[in-house]
Amino acid sequence: MQFDDKILKTEEKICFNLRSLYHASGYGHFKMSRFEEYDLYAKNKDFLASSDVLTFTDLSGKLLALKPDVTLSIIKNYSGNAKSTYKVYYDENVYRASHGHSEFHEIMQTGIEYIGNVDIDAECEVIELAIKSLEKISKKFILNIASVGLINALFDRFNVGENLKKDIILLLNAKNSEGIMMLSENGIIDVTLSNILILLSKMHDAPESGLISLRKLSENFDIGDAFSHLEKLMELLGKKNLLNNIKIDFSVINNISYYNGIVFCGYIYGISGTVLSGGRYDRLLERMGKSGGAIGFAVYMDILERFENTEQNESENIINIALPKGRLGEKVYEIFERSGYGCPSIHDNSRKLIFENRKVGVRYFWVKPSDVAIYVERGAADIGVCGKDILLEYSPDVYELCDLNMGKCRMAVAGKNDFSDDPEKTLRVATKFPNIAKKYYGGLSREIDIIKLNGSIEIAPILGLSDVIVDIVETGVTLKENNLELFETIVPISAWLIANKSIYRFKNKSLTYLTEAIKSNQ
Ligand code: PRP
Repeated sequence: MQFDDKILKTEEKICFNLRSLYHASGYGHFKMSRFEEYDLYAKNKDFLASSDVLTFTDLSGKLLALKPDVTLSIIKNYSGNAKSTYKVYYDENVYRASHGHSEFHEIMQTGIEYIGNVDIDAECEVIELAIKSLEKISKKFILNIASVGLINALFDRFNVGENLKKDIILLLNAKNSEGIMMLSENGIIDVTLSNILILLSKMHDAPESGLISLRKLSENFDIGDAFSHLEKLMELLGKKNLLNNIKIDFSVINNISYYNGIVFCGYIYGISGTVLSGGRYDRLLERMGKSGGAIGFAVYMDILERFENTEQNESENIINIALPKGRLGEKVYEIFERSGYGCPSIHDNSRKLIFENRKVGVRYFWVKPSDVAIYVERGAADIGVCGKDILLEYSPDVYELCDLNMGKCRMAVAGKNDFSDDPEKTLRVATKFPNIAKKYYGGLSREIDIIKLNGSIEIAPILGLSDVIVDIVETGVTLKENNLELFETIVPISAWLIANKSIYRFKNKSLTYLTEAIKSNQ
C-alpha cells in the first residue's frame, strides 16, 4: 500500500525528515519513558529551562516527574568515557511551562547529543546538522552563533561578580546597549568593559566581519583561547561552505551556568520564536560525575505547528509597528513621522486600529499599552513601543532597542504619611506589579505579602488593605491628593522601542536603520 504523506501534519513531516537526517548521519535513536525520577531534576534544577516540574507519586510511593527535558536522561544513561563517543538523537514529548505561559504544555522536541570525545570537528559536525535541520524546515533561516567562553573570559578579566553576571547576560540577551551603558555610568562596571559589551550586544554580523571585531578585542584582552576556538570553528564551517546563513550574535547567550563554549540558536522566517537551540555543555557531565564533553541541540516542533512554508515575502518590505493607544502613543507616533515613517491616514477621524503607508513601508496598530509587548513577542508586530514597567514585570522575550525618553515616571514605594515599618511583621504590599515588588523586597530580604490589584492602588493603604503600595508615580498628584507619601524610588520608567527577536534578524537592515532614525529624531 502506498503511503500518503499528505495525512501528516507539518511538524510530523519535519520530524520524520529530521529523524532520517540524524539516522543517516550515524546517530542512534534514544527512547525514554514519559516519566523520570524527580530526584534527577531536583538535583540539576539549574540545568533545566524552567524549574517548574510536574510531579506525582507512583504506586510504591516514589516521587516521579513528567519529563521536562531529555538531555538530563541521556547524560544519566551515558556510561562511556572521555575517549569514546556517544551520538544519539531523540524525538520526545517534554512537559514544561514555556516562556510567557503559566500552564504546562506538552512540547514535541527533536534533537541530537554528541557526548564523550568532543573536539572541534565534532562541534562542526553538530553545527552542520543544526544547519541541515533548519534547511529541512525552510530555505529562509538564520543560525546565530556566540561563545560563552569569550564572555566568561571577559568576566574573569574584569572580576565580575555572580549577580552582576546575570544582569549583564539579561542585557546582552535583550540587546539593551543603553542598559549596559547605564551600568558603567552608575559605576557598577568599568567603562572599558561596558564598551566591549555594547559592541557585543549590537553584533549581528556575518562571520567574517564579526571575527574582525572580535580579533581586535582579543588583541587587547585575554580572550585569546575562546576567540581562536571560534575562529577555527568558522574556518572549518567555511571549508564546508556553511557560513552563508550564520551570524555571530551574542544575544543568544542566556544560560552561562549550563553552557560553557559555543552556543547557537536557529530562526526561520515566518516563525516568531527560536526554532532550534543548543551548545556545548560539559558542566552537566561534570555535575553527574562523568568525564568528557557534550554538545547538542533541540528543535522545538510545537512552534512549527502553524508554519506554512511559502516563498511569499511581500510582508518583508513592511515594518509592522504596535503603538500604545492614548496620549503617549500619539507623541511616539510623531517621532516616527519625523523620522520618515509617517502614515497620513492615522490622522483620519475614525475608529480604525490599523493604518498602512506602503510608500514608506509601515503598518501601525493601536493596541492597549500593556499589550504591546505581547504583540511584539509573538511576532504579530515587528516592533512596538512599551513602558519599562511592563518589560520589568513580564520579562517578555524581546529586544530592547532604545529608550525613547518619553512617558517618564518611576516605580516607587509609597504609603500613609504616618506609616512606620515594623520589621517584625510581614509587610503587606498592594500593587499591579507583583514581580517588580517581589524582586525589590527580595533584594532587601524583607518578607512581604503581595496583594495584587488592578487599579486605584492608592486606596489600599488608606482602607487598611495594605501597609504600602508599589506603583507608578508620574507627577505625584495622586499620592498628594490621597495624603500618601513617596518612600522609595525602585526604578525610573520610560517608553522603550522593542523588537521581535526573530523578525529583527530577518529585517535587520530596515530595523537597524529605523532605530537609528528614531534615535536621532527623539
Ligand atoms: C497611574 C498610577 C497612579 C497614577 C500616578 O494610574 O497607578 O495611580 O497613574 O500618576 P501621578 O503621579 O501623575 O498622579 P493610572 O492612570 O494608570 O490608573 P489606574 O489607577 O487605573 O492604574
